[in-house]
Amino acid sequence: MKPIRFALGLGLALAAAPALAQQAPAAPVSATSPDGTLRVTLTIDGDGRAAYAISRKDKLILAPSRLGFLFTDVAKIDRRLVVTGTEVRDADDAWTQPWGEWASIRNRFRELKVHLKETSALARVFTVTFRLYEDGVGFRYEFPEQPNMARTNVAEELTEFAFAQDGTAWWKPAFLWNREEYLYNKTPLSAVGTADTPITIKLADGTHVALHEAALVDYSGMAVARSEGTTLRAALTPGAGEAKVRKQGAWTTPWRTLIVADDAAGLYHSHLMLNLNEPNKLGDVSWFKPGKFAGVWWNMIKGEWSWARGPKHGATTANVKRYIDFAAANGIPHLLVEGWNVGWDGDWFGNGNDMDFARPTEDFDVKALVAYGKQKGVRLIGHHETGGAASHYEKQFDKAFKFAADNGYMVVKTGYVTDAGQIERVDADGKAYREWHEGQWMSNHFVRVAEAAAKYKVAFDSHEPIKGTGLQRTYPNWVAREGMRGMEYNSWAGKNPPEHEANLVFTRMLEGPMDFTPGIVSLKGEKDSNILSTLAKQLALYVVIYSPVQMVADTPENYAKFPGPMKFIRDVPTDWQDSRVLNGEIGDFVTIARKQRGGEGWYIGAVGDEQERASAFKLDFLTPGKRYKAEIYRDGDQADYRTDRRHDIVIESRLVTSADTMNLRIAPGGGFAIRLVPVN
Ligand code: NOJ
Ligand code: CA
Repeated sequence: MKPIRFALGLGLALAAAPALAQQAPAAPVSATSPDGTLRVTLTIDGDGRAAYAISRKDKLILAPSRLGFLFTDVAKIDRRLVVTGTEVRDADDAWTQPWGEWASIRNRFRELKVHLKETSALARVFTVTFRLYEDGVGFRYEFPEQPNMARTNVAEELTEFAFAQDGTAWWKPAFLWNREEYLYNKTPLSAVGTADTPITIKLADGTHVALHEAALVDYSGMAVARSEGTTLRAALTPGAGEAKVRKQGAWTTPWRTLIVADDAAGLYHSHLMLNLNEPNKLGDVSWFKPGKFAGVWWNMIKGEWSWARGPKHGATTANVKRYIDFAAANGIPHLLVEGWNVGWDGDWFGNGNDMDFARPTEDFDVKALVAYGKQKGVRLIGHHETGGAASHYEKQFDKAFKFAADNGYMVVKTGYVTDAGQIERVDADGKAYREWHEGQWMSNHFVRVAEAAAKYKVAFDSHEPIKGTGLQRTYPNWVAREGMRGMEYNSWAGKNPPEHEANLVFTRMLEGPMDFTPGIVSLKGEKDSNILSTLAKQLALYVVIYSPVQMVADTPENYAKFPGPMKFIRDVPTDWQDSRVLNGEIGDFVTIARKQRGGEGWYIGAVGDEQERASAFKLDFLTPGKRYKAEIYRDGDQADYRTDRRHDIVIESRLVTSADTMNLRIAPGGGFAIRLVPVN
């Protein structure tokens, strides 16, 4: 940073002085990842416009793509730039996740910092820092404190992603009312509109790319809009004011990230997202133990019970007791209860100002239930539905998390049910504003939730959240989030199609854990409607969709009808030593194997789409010389999500070793789940 300060100290007079420009290393500036696979090159054109390009194995992925910013109050930054210096450093270390899909994460990268300065009167300076990994690139802008940038009001980021080839893109629309809960579109890259990230692209030559961002803190979320051809440009989420991002003094952007891989599996195996986040800021979080949870929930989603008080109220002492019994009988350590608190009786959608997160309704005897749960080894999960009244929630942080801790809750589920752009922020002076779920203010709100909850040793699982950007590394009590269409959509009209989860693995799941809420073994939503799935697929989801808190989402009565399949749900853990995608194509099928943490067992899950498929894979990840009992839960030969054979399942066992291969049928709308336990 020193040389920059020095240059700044010289002030405007020297800003355009030729002497300074001559000292500067001439662009292009270039660096490769430590293994040589990926290269980034920064160039300056005749107008002084900076662009970066990315190639992989000497083939362009991104053609020169512009950098810069528009502001609401001062001249934009994009022309008249010079490179004033560069720095390169290498790093190679490893770190351990307190919980996750992998225990140990290698962090090996080369960092290239390119210092830039305007030759115009404002003489603003900034650095673009690139981190090059074998599996992708992250870069961010860093602005030091400087006289002509005491305050910054960003109107738009001009960062481009100019893909060098066309391809197929999986993307969901950004800035629409239903936030991030849209199905993925599959279109040519050259037909993308305005898309949320991650957006996943299979380029014409087969290279797979996922474009996203890491460490979204104190900044607005980045969508991308296609400007022309195959070029996407950053489109920042609005804020309540004119500026999309407001800063004072020094500031940085989140990392703009591209995972680049040969195939779909390679995207999933990337640790780029986690590595680009700051290490754990909360210290010891061993008080949080990954685990499953049941819920007084699905009957509400089906419209049979209500969150509000009245004859259909779900969160009654008697109902909750029954669910505690169910959880205890199945070794499920947590029970989510929704509608337990005062505030639901009116129209709570987009209107959470009546919510009180420390006041149970009179028919929910919290003391008795907590004591009953304690006896049976089941903790409650509190629910904080804010209805988007985020400031109202912040005012209650202390009493809400104290109430949770006092009642032995390890986890709370939060929610922000309101349309996009309708989050209610109320400042200290009483003035109200409307914010976006993925805007700068909410990015800071979520950090405040993490810190407030951590003070009471409480973890949280946020619904209608800001997108995931790997912050679970920094705040490991932020254990899961929704942020996409989960199981609840399978209750309602317009259900998730069979390919949904095979899409999710290579798109939404690249953000981090998802509270998808699997396990609807009844295969029934509201009004007796059919879910577009087989029974075996519901089991597969416990392995395929990762979350350290995983819901056993159906009702106790429904699970009682399926004791065989229930055994898999009882057995499957939610914390992993290792995870491997054995095969997969975006939106078609995927098979994932995961090794349990603290044990020798492996679990495999596979899901397909609407077609009949087969999944063949080697078991070469098993320990050689060991024999394993494979407990297989697969679609019956007649199983098909379109017929009344949706529940056909075959449960069988065989002995296998690391030398074996398996080849299993996946029914239309189907899947399979396997538990592998060592027997010698
Ligand atoms: C939407 C959430 O996704 C769902 O899980 C919850 O039950 C409702 N909001 C009510 O908070
Ligand atoms: Ca939701």
